[in-house]
Order: sequence, then structure tokens, then C-alpha cells
Amino acid sequence: MTATHHAPAAAESGASATARFKSDKFAAVADTPKERVSLLAREVLSAVHETIRKHKVTYDEYNALKAWLIQVGEDGEWPLFLDVWVEHVVEEVATSHRKGNKGTIEGPYYVPGAPEQGSRGSVPMREGEGGTPLVWTGRVTSVDGSPLKDAKVELWHADADGLYSQFAPGIPEWNLRGTFSVEEDGSFEIHTVRPAPYQIPTDGACGKLIAAAGWHAWRPAHLHVKVSAPGHELLTAQLYFPGDEHNDDDIASAVKPELVLDPKPSDGGETVTYDFVLDPA
Ligand code: DHB
Ligand code: FE
Repeated sequence: MTATHHAPAAAESGASATARFKSDKFAAVADTPKERVSLLAREVLSAVHETIRKHKVTYDEYNALKAWLIQVGEDGEWPLFLDVWVEHVVEEVATSHRKGNKGTIEGPYYVPGAPEQGSRGSVPMREGEGGTPLVWTGRVTSVDGSPLKDAKVELWHADADGLYSQFAPGIPEWNLRGTFSVEEDGSFEIHTVRPAPYQIPTDGACGKLIAAAGWHAWRPAHLHVKVSAPGHELLTAQLYFPGDEHNDDDIASAVKPELVLDPKPSDGGETVTYDFVLDPA
């Protein structure tokens, strides 16, 4: 897998992520009280001013920043930028009170309404879908240990080329995206394939920043989940695979030790167990 292999589809992924954010989440941002806006805007601007003073930022650097910010918007990469470099701290603050799973960032590629696949089934996939077959069993319980029989597990992830359906072109609409229910005892069994490590788009403004700073663009391979149950807080998480070289230097800073799976080889594929504990709302 090389950067050139990913680049063309990645550019479209940025613009698709912007369109998806507008259609799903714009409405939620309308009503922030003006005192709160004023406080947060002032403090963010002060942090910028302090950085300029501390490092004696020049006019050339200021203009480079302006040009780059304009390009982030033109490339549709604000969701990518924010989810890679900012969201992990928002998630940390939002879930710090939890006694059950804390989770991690959502990222830009969630789509609500993935097809219902029952409590034991497969995510939709193509004939001969690449990647090691993975059978994942688990349970959803409340913090007191009681099973949550009405829980839902939404799963979405990249394919064996690191690409997401509905964001990269040429992939069936709901490929590797499914919604699972659970049994009376909270258990489920999901059949999927192992995703590849994911490289954030290298051909747009975020890629330019990464190249200009001499960073890398990789996230470790990961499965995204949203786990919900009536009367409980929504859990958004990602699950990772042991030994991935980017578990320790994820560009999105979203790996936590408790989110790393322990898969076992089994004929022709792997099996893994991972359970979820939800906090009452
Ligand atoms: C980004 C992509 C992901 O798949 C993810 O999980 C987090 C962030 C991104 O490109 O911004
Ligand atoms: Fe992802």
C-alpha cells in the first residue's frame, strides 16, 4: 500500500466528509449562548497571540497560514483537520465522568442508518472482499452488569485498501457498514474483515501541513463502533489491532490501551471477544 495508491480517492473523501457533516450535524450548532462564544473565542485567540509573540511569527508565516486556511476550506478538509488534531481532546472531556467504556473519536466517516443485520450476522461486503475474516463476539451491559437487551452496535470501517464506502468512490453504498442488535443476554456476533491502516488524504491541505512539518499521515487499522441502549449514554469508540506500528503514533491521537483487541487465529481467519459497558444517562 503506497501513498500514490490512496491519493485520488482520498481527495474525494475530504469533500464527501464536508457534505456529510453539513447534512447530519449543522443544525446542532445553532444555539450556543453568546457569553460562551465570547469566552471561547477570546481564549483561543489569546492562545494564538501568545504563540505569535513567543515565536516572533513573521508576515511571511502569517500569510502562509492564511493561504493554508483558505485551502483547507476549498479542499473540504475541515472535518478531516478537526477530527485528526482536535476531536480527541473533546472526547476526553466529554467522557471523563464515565464508569463504563470511555471510547474514542468518531472521525469524519460515520453515516447513520446502516442496514440492520440482526444479532448474529455479517456486515455487507463484496464478493471476495479483501482482508482477513474476523468474527467478533461480545456483550453489551450496563455498569451494574445487567445485560442491555435493546442495545444496538453500529460498526463501520475501512476496507483492505484503507478506504471507506460513501467517501471514496466505486465502493457499494453500505459496504463494511452495519447495525447489529443483541440477544436477551446482551450478546452479539459480528462477521467482518480486518481493515487496513488508514492514511489521511495526502493530496489536500492536511497533507500539505503534514509534509511541511515532516510528520506522517497514518492511523493504525481500526474498527469504528457506536453502541447505544435506551436510558444509556451513547458510546463512540474504535478498536485497534495489537502490533500495528501506528498504535503508538496515531496521527489522530485516538488509541487507548483498553481499545486494543486480542484476536486469535482460527481456521482461515481470526476470532476476537470485546464487550461494552454503558453508563446510565
Ligand atoms: C480521520 C479518518 C478516520 O478514519 C478516523 O478514524 C479519524 C480521522 C480523518 O481523516 O480525519
Ligand atoms: Fe476511521
